[in-house]
Amino acid sequence: LIVVRTIDDMRSWVRSIRAQERTIGFVPTMGALHDGHLQLAKRSKELADETVVSIFVNPTQFGPNEDLSRYPRPFDEDIKKCRDAGVSVVFHPSAIEIYGAGSFIGFKLDKMGDHLCGASRPGHFAGVIQIVNKLFNIVQPDTAIFGQKDYQQYRIMEQMVVEFNHPIKMVMNPTVRATNGLALSSRNRYLSEDELVLAPQIFIELQRIATDLATNPSVETATSASQGRLMAAGFKIDYISVVSNNDLQPLIEAHGTCIVAMAVYLGTTRLIDNLLVELS
Ligand code: PAF
Repeated sequence: LIVVRTIDDMRSWVRSIRAQERTIGFVPTMGALHDGHLQLAKRSKELADETVVSIFVNPTQFGPNEDLSRYPRPFDEDIKKCRDAGVSVVFHPSAIEIYGAGSFIGFKLDKMGDHLCGASRPGHFAGVIQIVNKLFNIVQPDTAIFGQKDYQQYRIMEQMVVEFNHPIKMVMNPTVRATNGLALSSRNRYLSEDELVLAPQIFIELQRIATDLATNPSVETATSASQGRLMAAGFKIDYISVVSNNDLQPLIEAHGTCIVAMAVYLGTTRLIDNLLVELS
């Protein structure tokens, strides 16, 4: 495993790999790696000759009152996990290396960014587009692998690849869950023991909404019941939505391929999860 910290060094590694006609799989992360990330690395190793994992807590995708300063950064543990997973390179630049020259170009999203996390985290996806675009230009992968837990992010990245003509195959891996159903997330580290007991309710309620919609397409009916149960259990609701898979727009009646998605708080920790459902 090589740890690369500069753009120049990353580019010279990429050149040497290209000279050997070997392919590159890429897993962008903000570190605090868990089994979900390691499954992405595993998938990358199946799809490409070399795997690059980036570890960079990107400041531009955090809002002013979000958790940038307390975001976990267990770098030595992460390196060990990457080594054990057979990752070729960890790209771990500083913020100065990435943004040192300043940034004068912003990104505006179309309606795919209007709802779900796009609505509750203004500027978040513009920051994600900014960093992933940079990382794609630096790492120049053949394939990039993202997790379904951040489904809206994946769809926006897919669109970015098309619009910016990145010659990159995008792959989405299913959400990795604990045995109790809780979606693995770096932010689960913030949860207290009591909150960890409550958190699997998120997946239970997503499944209930999906089941309810199969018999009654009213999104209001299905989501308000879940909202009530979650609030009674101590969750604060950011959103519970059912959106069309085509354009991520909210539905009143759910039909066809839909995403049931939620973002909720346990204490100060914001957790997200979603299910892709096929309805008649
Ligand atoms: O999903 C994440 O961890 C981040 O949004 C990403 C894609 C690494 C960009 O900073």
